[in-house]
Amino acid sequence: MRVIQGTSNRGLAKAISERSGNKPIITDIKRFPDGEIYCRSLEPIDGEDVVIVQSTYPDNNALEALILAALAKDLGARSVTGVIPYFGYARQDMVFNEGESFTARTMARHLQLSMDNIVCVNLHKENTLEQFNDVRSSVNISVMGEIGTFLKELDVDFILSPDKGAVGYAREVAEFANCGFDNLEKTRIDGKTVKMAPKELDVNGKIVAIVDDIIATGGTILRAQETLREQGAKKVYACCAHGLFTDGGIERLSPVLDGLYSSDTIENPTSEISAAGPIVEYLMTILG
Ligand code: R5P
Repeated sequence: MRVIQGTSNRGLAKAISERSGNKPIITDIKRFPDGEIYCRSLEPIDGEDVVIVQSTYPDNNALEALILAALAKDLGARSVTGVIPYFGYARQDMVFNEGESFTARTMARHLQLSMDNIVCVNLHKENTLEQFNDVRSSVNISVMGEIGTFLKELDVDFILSPDKGAVGYAREVAEFANCGFDNLEKTRIDGKTVKMAPKELDVNGKIVAIVDDIIATGGTILRAQETLREQGAKKVYACCAHGLFTDGGIERLSPVLDGLYSSDTIENPTSEISAAGPIVEYLMTILG
C-alpha cells in the first residue's frame, strides 16, 4: 500500500506511512490563485493500493478528498482506500426536520464514487457507515483505547461522559485507563448552551477525565466540569477523538481544565494522541 497525504492531516498521514513501513506518494497539492485545488501525483501509482488520508471537514478538505480519490482512480490505482479521520457532516446523520438535507448520506454517496474502502474514526453515529452502500469495505475505527492508555499515564481514576450517548466511549476509555466510569445527562438548549441534569457522582478528591467523541464550542465540557468541581473533583481533564474547537473552544476551556487533549484526527494544539495505531492495524487486514 502507498499513502497519499492529504493536506488536512499531514501529521497523521505521515505516522500512518511510517507505521506501515511505506514511503508516502510524492504529490503536489496546492491552491490556484483563485482558491481552486490543484492535485498532482509526482510518481506513477498504477497498480498500487492507494490510501488517501484526508478529512472531509471543512468543506474545502472534502473537495480535496474527492479530487484525490478520482485522481488515484484515473492514474490506474488497483484500489483506493479513503482514510477519513474526521467525517464532516457526521452530525447531520438523519433528516431531523422535514425538507432538510441528509448531508452525511450525500457525502457518503459522493466519496464512494472513487473510493473502494472507507475507514472512518469514531463516527458520531456508527450507523452512518450504512450510507457507504457501494464499497468493498467500510469500518468505524475507535481511538478510545489510545485515549484510555494516555489517561492512565495521567493517573486518572474516573471517566465521565457528558451524556448517555457517549457512555460507550467512557466505558471503552475506562477499560484501558483501568478505572470506573459514569455518565451525566445533557439537554441542549442551543448551539452553545447545554444543561446537565443533577446527579451525584463518586468523584470527591478524584482525578476525573471527561470523554466525548467531539468537542466543538466546548459548551458541553464546560458544564460537565462545573458539575465535577461542585462535587469535589481534585483535577478535571477533558479528552475527545475530534477536537473541532469552534468559536474559540480551546481558549474557553483551557483556563477551567487541568488538561485538554484530543486525537490527531483534527490537527490542533491539543492533539497529543495519535489515531495511527488502530488505523494501520486495520489497513494491514484489508491491504496487507
Ligand atoms: C454531541 O452529541 C457530541 O457528542 C458532542 O457532545 C457535541 O458535539 C459537543 O459540542 P459542544 O462542544 O459544542 O458542546
